[in-house]
Amino acid sequence: MAIQKVGVVGCGLMGSGIVQVCAQAGYDVTVREIDDAALAKGLGRIDKFLQGGVDKGKMTAEQKAAVLGKIKGTTKLADLGGCDLVIEAAVENIAAKHEVFAALDAACGPETIYASNTSSLSITEMAAKTKRPARVVGLHFFNPVPLMQLVEVVRTPMTDAAVLAEVDAFAQKLPKTVVSAQDTPGFVVNRLLVPYILDAIRVYEQGLASKEDIDNGMKLGCGHPMGPLTLLDFVGLDTTLYIAEIMFDEFKEPRFAPPPLLKRMVLAGWHGRKSGRGFYDWSSGQPR
Ligand SMILES: NC(=O)c1ccc[n+]([C@@H]2O[C@H](COP(=O)([O-])OP(=O)(O)OC[C@H]3O[C@@H](n4cnc5c(N)ncnc54)[C@H](O)[C@@H]3O)[C@@H](O)[C@H]2O)c1
Repeated sequence: MAIQKVGVVGCGLMGSGIVQVCAQAGYDVTVREIDDAALAKGLGRIDKFLQGGVDKGKMTAEQKAAVLGKIKGTTKLADLGGCDLVIEAAVENIAAKHEVFAALDAACGPETIYASNTSSLSITEMAAKTKRPARVVGLHFFNPVPLMQLVEVVRTPMTDAAVLAEVDAFAQKLPKTVVSAQDTPGFVVNRLLVPYILDAIRVYEQGLASKEDIDNGMKLGCGHPMGPLTLLDFVGLDTTLYIAEIMFDEFKEPRFAPPPLLKRMVLAGWHGRKSGRGFYDWSSGQPR
């Protein structure tokens, strides 16, 4: 049966983007947040993004209203019971993810497919604890979800091939380009991106080049839209440290080991753009 009704758990940075692209693609979406304030904040983010499109003439006010009309917010997980696919985009914590899927097992029929948007946790570990391990996949979107073309569709050794095909078809309707990945830390994109970013920190840490030269080198020499240290400030130093630690723990390869400077900066509270300071000073909104 094709996916028609979609549930999303979490309406934060990623969840709100996922809700938006699903609704824009014509799916009926129910999104669950922990309380009314978090729900209002997430739905407000969607409204603001769509209003930006109206202001720029990319969509009409009627089209915006039609998209919002496809979205239902709730604080009750049981309201996701009628969904064909539930995408989990809650906090990056394995205990929290297990809790969400256990509650969904009580609310959803046996056919409902579960997907997690996790960046670094094991989909296999999540799937094994559910009552439907063959119907659990990873759907790894990129930030900002409405603008980034890619989604990684992640399979575990237990994933049913028919489920994978259904999820692939769903992702393509959003429309996103699918990269198929196995359930290993970092999947495909972060497996390549994280060691590159960590190496950029090492080049800076070893005094081989200034941060501006490192960033300009990759921007102007390789055509990247931004340099690795600016990118790190956007992603978050704390998030990157967390992912690197998980990858190093799994692979035991030095290239995944977080450099001492990254650890020190995170300890200092310099988490990047969101905290006002990372490799650059963001207090004015622009990197300095
Ligand atoms: N931020 C990124 O660039 C990025 C990219 C890809 C994947 N991810 C992954 O997406 C997930 C969400 O990340 P985010 O950046 O959106 O985080 P976020 O902190 O912005 O949002 C998480 C939201 O989940 C809500 N939440 C927590 N527990 C919940 C529950 N039980 N039910 C419903 N809602 C709940 C929180 O209130 C919060 O609003 C994480 O697993 C993260 O690793 C993040």
